[in-house]
Amino acid sequence: MISKRLAAVKPSATIAVSQKARELLAAGKDVVVLSMGEPDFDTPEYINQAAVEAIANGKTRYTAVDGIAELKDQICQKFLSDNDLSYVPSQISVAPGGKAIIFNALLATLDPGDEVIIPAPCWVSYPEMTRLCGGVPKVVMCSSKDGFKMTPETLAKAITAKTKWLLINSPSNPTGACYSEDELRSLGEVLKSYPDILILTDDIYEKLVYDGRQFATIGSAVPELFDRTLTMNGMSKAFAMTGWRLGYAGGPEWLISAMRKVMSQSTSNPSSISQYAALSALKGSQAFLDDWCQVFEARRDLICTELNRLPELSCQKSEGAFYAFVDCQHLIGRSSPAGRQLRNDTDVVTSILDEVLVALVPGSAFHAPGYFRLSFAASHESLETAISRIENFCQNCGA
Ligand SMILES: Cc1ncc(COP(=O)(O)O)c(C=O)c1O
Repeated sequence: MISKRLAAVKPSATIAVSQKARELLAAGKDVVVLSMGEPDFDTPEYINQAAVEAIANGKTRYTAVDGIAELKDQICQKFLSDNDLSYVPSQISVAPGGKAIIFNALLATLDPGDEVIIPAPCWVSYPEMTRLCGGVPKVVMCSSKDGFKMTPETLAKAITAKTKWLLINSPSNPTGACYSEDELRSLGEVLKSYPDILILTDDIYEKLVYDGRQFATIGSAVPELFDRTLTMNGMSKAFAMTGWRLGYAGGPEWLISAMRKVMSQSTSNPSSISQYAALSALKGSQAFLDDWCQVFEARRDLICTELNRLPELSCQKSEGAFYAFVDCQHLIGRSSPAGRQLRNDTDVVTSILDEVLVALVPGSAFHAPGYFRLSFAASHESLETAISRIENFCQNCGA
């Protein structure tokens, strides 16, 4: 029998859809997979080379539990130059993925009943990780009228005597919404009155922002909150290193050391080879990112323009990350081209996958029913195919 704790946790819906898409692909079906949360680019070659050298040089043993000293130094430099955040190495944690950083932080701090405020639409894992760590997710829906961002008023309403954390994710998975410095400052004004609330900012999509937008993070936008903010980031999205499993964070020393304790009795250190690869990634030229962002921006424009042309669908322009969050409420209550009832967003996504072979993720996985998430981390050609298949689906839906 599995534990009660785990029984309360839902499996990752994004992984479930991708699994179904993989099965269809294995059966020889020509599926366009737009459900995955990873860049379609290869890890840059200089990073691969650094890993090969690390192996050749015998860097294949256990390391310090939460990261090698050289990498922590480099992460301090990154935070200073990119984010104007001044950390010392004892305030840095390196873990097997950004996901592990968040999990370690929650496990290290949550007591039963402690609440975590999660602005929604939100990444699938935040509420489930909170539950797994014994906390209570307080998912707060943010209106599309506010660009799916939390306002100071909604934040103030969500705070209770049990609030332990506020989670911020900008650019957002699934909406692509980015908080400006001013928007973070106005949330900061509310938080200043609650000195016991910790803030976790998930900045994993920091480097993928569009239209010349400036990325902002709350620890520097609101310096008064720096001492109780965990600034999380990682290699997965900006460096196309999802499989390398390397995430990191800067935060108060007491929290970093508590997270180290969790790691010391669970995963131990992240892969030594991935750490050396990350060191070279952060040290090296990141000029390739300009090209990647241009490509993503062009794809975003294609997706948003074309989907907004369809009377049944609409989406806002993503400000960052590589997702379009599409309103499909006009399809709900109708029937699919094959005659299935479309009762909700999951029915829409399932029918689109089965009937026109495009894999998407239902909005309900992100606590936002009535929408679906489309990842534009796919070639222009695949996106054009997907658009014409989705258009065909919409045009052939019954009343
Ligand atoms: C918002 C967000 N945070 C964290 C992660 C996890 O990243 P990592 O691969 O570093 O564990 C993801 C991955 O999909 C994500 O979308």
